[in-house]
Amino acid sequence: MTPKLLAIRFFAVLLAFLSSAPRADDSVIFSKDIQPILNERCVVCHVRGAEQGNLALDRRNALANLVAQPSSQSGLARVEPGDSTESYLIHKLKGNQLEVGGSGARMPLGSGPLTKKEIAKFESWINEGAAGN
Ligand code: HEC
Repeated sequence: MTPKLLAIRFFAVLLAFLSSAPRADDSVIFSKDIQPILNERCVVCHVRGAEQGNLALDRRNALANLVAQPSSQSGLARVEPGDSTESYLIHKLKGNQLEVGGSGARMPLGSGPLTKKEIAKFESWINEGAAGN
């Protein structure tokens, strides 16, 4: 094989390896992936001082009010770190809250649901441990 062919081969293999390797930035970062959705879709009602549903979701309060905190509507925690199916927040986003013994409406109240992709981000964040990163 000529050196040129060898070089082409080398880069082809390198490229295949790089594109198949899991990317470190696949995991969900709370401040980058979750809080912006809360700001855009939830904080209008869930803000310190108004606190609809007894829940403030603004940047300073969201993590402390969600992670391992009991829901006021069901026996589930709002966010159960490591288990999105046991997290009341996810049921409220999907509109399944009545099926898990909860109450009230699907969130965000009065407007269209989050996209599947957005809800999947919340689920990944919770299943990855609900870190405050
Ligand atoms: C238009 C106002 C409004 C918006 C927007 C809104 N909420 Fe709510 N939220 C409420 C009200 C009012 C309640 C209590 C009544 C109910 O559950 O229907 C509530 C309750 C909740 C609860 C239950 C709290 C508990 O302790 O059990 C969660 C969780 C919640 N909201 C999350 C969200 C999230 C996440 C968003 C954004 C994706 C959002 N909400 C958007 C008004 C709103």
